[in-house]
Amino acid sequence: MKISIITLFPKMISGFFEESIIKRAVEKKLVEIKVVNLRDFAIDDYGTVDDRPYGGGVGMVIRVDVVYKAIQNLKSKISNPKVKTKILLTSPRGRLFNQRKAEEYSKIDQLIIIAGHYEGVDERVNEFIDEEVSIGDYVLTGGEIPAAAIVDSVVRLLPGVLKKDEAIKQESFNIKGKKLLEYPQYTRPEEFKGIKVPKVLMGGNHKEIEKWRLDKSLQETKKRRPDLIQK
Ligand code: ADE
Repeated sequence: MKISIITLFPKMISGFFEESIIKRAVEKKLVEIKVVNLRDFAIDDYGTVDDRPYGGGVGMVIRVDVVYKAIQNLKSKISNPKVKTKILLTSPRGRLFNQRKAEEYSKIDQLIIIAGHYEGVDERVNEFIDEEVSIGDYVLTGGEIPAAAIVDSVVRLLPGVLKKDEAIKQESFNIKGKKLLEYPQYTRPEEFKGIKVPKVLMGGNHKEIEKWRLDKSLQETKKRRPDLIQK
């Protein structure tokens, strides 16, 4: 898989990909991550990429022609027409990102993520992208953290990235194929400040443990995220 992130602040995200699991995935060539500086496609030698909004208002709007040039530059490097490509724009106005979306994106050959900024990006950019994506109902200063969050959740789903593929199958939002939260986990010590590890986990009866875990997943989901059950 190849992921390109178009951003005005490359340094804000490149460090993120140089650590831990993502770094290992890049080294193992399971994913190629490219951080593209939008300013390389500026309209002039001053590095202009934005302008004042038509109709007035505060802030600056990123120009559609600049974003278009950056997208075309990445697309021109794909020689095989069969390569499945998806172009995303991060924005608080986008559709909410979730685990299902992460799974969908992990099956794409080439993902291009445009990190939105300032007061926004010229609306006409929507003609050249596939989806506008939000990572939650709150506003961040820019699209770099959302882009990093999307990349992280997608890359960890790629085959061979996590040590045990099993780790992906049983986790929050995917418990036995259901949208549930993960069951509680315990490790040593067996007792801490009078709080004991549930007996069933110490017994070694795998059927019972599995049943207990599913029950707990259901209970915890009902308590913490009843909206997931309703869905
Ligand atoms: N840019 C600013 N806030 C955002 C959010 N919540 N999701 C995606 N992009 C954003």
